[in-house]
Amino acid sequence: MKDTKRLAEWIKQSRFTVVLTGAGMSTESGLPDFRSKSGWWKNYDPTTIATVDAMETNYPLFHDFYCMRLKTLEGCSPHQGHYILADWEKKGLVQSVATQNVDGFHKAAGSSNVYELHGSLQSIRCSLCGGLSGVKDFLEKEACRSCGGRLRPGVVLFGEMLPQDAWNSALRDIERADLVLVIGTSMQVYPANQLPSMTKGKTALINYEVQGGGSGFDMVIKGKAGKVLAETDQII
Ligand code: APR
Repeated sequence: MKDTKRLAEWIKQSRFTVVLTGAGMSTESGLPDFRSKSGWWKNYDPTTIATVDAMETNYPLFHDFYCMRLKTLEGCSPHQGHYILADWEKKGLVQSVATQNVDGFHKAAGSSNVYELHGSLQSIRCSLCGGLSGVKDFLEKEACRSCGGRLRPGVVLFGEMLPQDAWNSALRDIERADLVLVIGTSMQVYPANQLPSMTKGKTALINYEVQGGGSGFDMVIKGKAGKVLAETDQII
């Protein structure tokens, strides 16, 4: 049976399906991922820009990198794959989406149960007092209006704790799931990469490159997220 036909069956039979997405879910929207040959970490060393230490000791470089990502995001929008997942939620085929992505595209496409495990690029806050600010203030390198501290995007930097409520909700749902659909992630980053192994349900991976043959998944579909989701949606 064609993989997407089998996946469609699994989705229809599942009473509780959770989706876990990574940067590969947004490359068809025009956003680079991180570890593909065209990914962000091919040109930037994450330890010099995506850590608290980098933010504190080299704010100009930290600021430039996140300004570039915010400007890249401005020109991009969700693709058909995001809309299909939102439609499946409305039809009761998907319960929630746990995402490592900070682009906000799942919510923008209409998904409502979205757990942003790595935060959100467009939620700007003061690195000192936590006061909220706006993207425009960050892009213009303004200081925090309340305490004069440096502004930062609300993304989880390497070494930082994940937002507890997002993590707990994702874990609770994944533990309950009959099916976990993992889309567009290299599974390199802890603790998000532990989630699929925490379900008693079936696991399916949709990924463009499949490292190690997708070991540990009950089904592996090698392909582009948008295309595979569209094909599966057609069958459903
Ligand atoms: N369809 C399916 N898979 C794709 C597509 C696509 N259109 N484009 C890329 N991919 C795959 C790549 O082959 C790769 O295996 O998606 C995966 C993306 O992996 P990463 O770039 O490592 O991104 P991700 O797994 O989300 O990274 C996790 O690392 O740097 C941190 O915080 C950052 O959230 C990020 C985390």
